[in-house]
Amino acid sequence: MKKYLIIMMFLLSQAPAVAADWRVTGNSQKKIDNLVKIMPSASGSMLQMGERYRNVFWAALQENWLFAEYQAKKMQEQVNVLMVSNPELKPASEQFLQKGMNQLIPAIQSKNWTEFKNAFMQMRQACNECHEQNKLGFITLREKPAKGISPVLH
Ligand code: HEC
Repeated sequence: MKKYLIIMMFLLSQAPAVAADWRVTGNSQKKIDNLVKIMPSASGSMLQMGERYRNVFWAALQENWLFAEYQAKKMQEQVNVLMVSNPELKPASEQFLQKGMNQLIPAIQSKNWTEFKNAFMQMRQACNECHEQNKLGFITLREKPAKGISPVLH
């Protein structure tokens, strides 16, 4: 028993000090450096884009037009974040917003499946184009994506 107590006391004495919290004690430079390091990654943004791509399609198919519009707006917001976090993708992102997204929201607002489908196909093409430009031609989006996991969809 005494032996264990000694071992424990030894281990405790070796415990590292609690790491300083840069958010509290760091100087401004340290804070900026850390914020840059934890900027959202392009692949993180893209996982969201992929999820919303599925949601917008299925929301429209189920005529939940307000949810579809919400998804499309979140996609625009995500691309706006991408332009800041990954400036090398800024020109392609601007092109995408123009060619891929501009027509999607009015098409959703028209509540017309055919109009939506045309705009969706145009967006899909613009997504795939950016992937090709970045040597990611194998990331090809399906015309009819699998249903999104959003609990709003039925
Ligand atoms: C401006 C360029 C650009 C546009 C536009 C774009 N992507 Fe991407 N996408 C990328 C890049 C770059 C990657 C690879 C990211 C990485 O690996 O760091 C990627 C990867 C992906 C992936 C794979 C993510 C993973 O890690 O499994 C998916 C899914 C995806 N994109 C979906 C979409 C969808 C859906 C759209 C359109 C609605 C879209 N992308 C539009 C640049 C773009």
